[in-house]
Amino acid sequence: MSNSKLFSIFLSLSVVALSLSSSVQLVRAQCRPEDKATLLKIKSGFGYSSSLATWKNDTDCCFFWDGVICDVFTYKIIYLWITNSNTSGPIPSTIGDLPDLRRLNILNHPNLTGPLPRSLTKLTNLERLAITGTSLSGSIPNMLCSLSILYSLDLSANNLSGRIPGCFSGSVHIINFSDNQLTGRIPRSLLRGYGGNDTELNLRNNHLAGTIPESFSTLNFQNLDLSENYFVGDASFIFGRSKFSVQIDLSNNRFNFDLSPVTYPMFLNLLDISHNKIRGRINEQITELQGLGVLDMSYNRLCGPIPSGGMMRPYDKSSFVGNKCLCGTPLPPCTA
Ligand SMILES: *[C@@H]1O[C@H](CO)[C@@H](O)[C@H](O)[C@H]1NC(C)=O
Ligand SMILES: *[C@@H]1O[C@H](CO)[C@@H](O)[C@H](O)[C@H]1NC(C)=O
Ligand SMILES: *[C@@H]1O[C@H](CO)[C@@H](O)[C@H](O)[C@H]1NC(C)=O
Ligand SMILES: *[C@@H]1O[C@H](CO)[C@@H](O)[C@H](O)[C@H]1NC(C)=O
Ligand SMILES: *[C@@H]1O[C@H](CO)[C@@H](O)[C@H](O)[C@H]1NC(C)=O
Ligand SMILES: *[C@@H]1O[C@H](CO)[C@@H](O)[C@H](O)[C@H]1NC(C)=O
Repeated sequence: MSNSKLFSIFLSLSVVALSLSSSVQLVRAQCRPEDKATLLKIKSGFGYSSSLATWKNDTDCCFFWDGVICDVFTYKIIYLWITNSNTSGPIPSTIGDLPDLRRLNILNHPNLTGPLPRSLTKLTNLERLAITGTSLSGSIPNMLCSLSILYSLDLSANNLSGRIPGCFSGSVHIINFSDNQLTGRIPRSLLRGYGGNDTELNLRNNHLAGTIPESFSTLNFQNLDLSENYFVGDASFIFGRSKFSVQIDLSNNRFNFDLSPVTYPMFLNLLDISHNKIRGRINEQITELQGLGVLDMSYNRLCGPIPSGGMMRPYDKSSFVGNKCLCGTPLPPCTA
């Protein structure tokens, strides 16, 4: 074979190879340039973050960047997950320039400071927002209520203060504001009108006070954690055997109500009402609960026999100590 013939075969092979590789490029080059530019700005705003090491200008953000998920048809960025940095300073406001985001997670950046960025309001397609484990301070802004299809809001373990805004109602029904410095009462409008079974509210470890809204009586909490606050008054109306609650924690408050008429949701697996001023007796209906693994009623003002038989488990006496006159197993027998 002549050299020129070899050369032309080589040429045509190269053309095939080139067109193959460019079609591969076409398949892969899906990251929209404006999104890539925005993400690179966000990356520089976050400084060092182990989760952003794969965010490189010469690769496709939809396929190679950790924590970035694009829509499979439109290649718009719909999910963003940024974790673990030692960056100090505020969340970069360019976070608001990804208008198609449905989920945003910013987790574990203990040296991030400043307020929640105003630009979050531009993310009108957001369904779930989690910003946790930072030193972000200031209040929870009303503007978050303008995110009309947001249903899950986790702002736990930051340094947020002030009151819970009165504008959350309707769509947001999974709320975690635990481990902050929030003050004031629970707004009456919170969760109002939500009819589903999957309501979750976690306000653990804040400085919240006052009574809890009576509108909670119509809600079906799956998980309710109000522990380690200064709540007072009645909470009996959140209970009831026909509710779907799985976990209820009211511990370490100043709740003061009669427990005698309270019946317990049948699927309950955790009930902690310890360290309050709750009085009355424990309703026999508690013996119908099959899954109640964790029970703590210690340090209240309860009285009367601890129900036994049925599904009642052999709880440790630490579940009942520190009451006024509870008696029977695992405490000493009742003296009739
Ligand atoms: C990324 O690459 C493009 C094209 O190669 C270039 O125009 C742009 O300036 C780069 N951006 C950064 C932040 O390096
Ligand atoms: C946060 O900043 C402080 C002081 O600059 C530093 O000592 C600490 O290690 C930083 N935290 C993290 C997780 O990097
Ligand atoms: C953040 O952590 C990385 C990796 O441990 C380190 O290289 C960098 O110097 C740290 N930056 C600051 C500001 O502490
Ligand atoms: C929390 O915020 C308060 C101001 O509201 C500030 O004084 C305090 O230093 C902050 N704590 C942390 C750990 O950032
Ligand atoms: C709420 O946030 C705390 C702290 O970040 C976390 O430990 C807990 O699992 C969260 N609870 C729910 C129900 O999401
Ligand atoms: C709540 O859940 C139960 C069973 O999980 C279901 O039968 C019921 O229809 C649900 N109710 C609502 C209002 O979603």
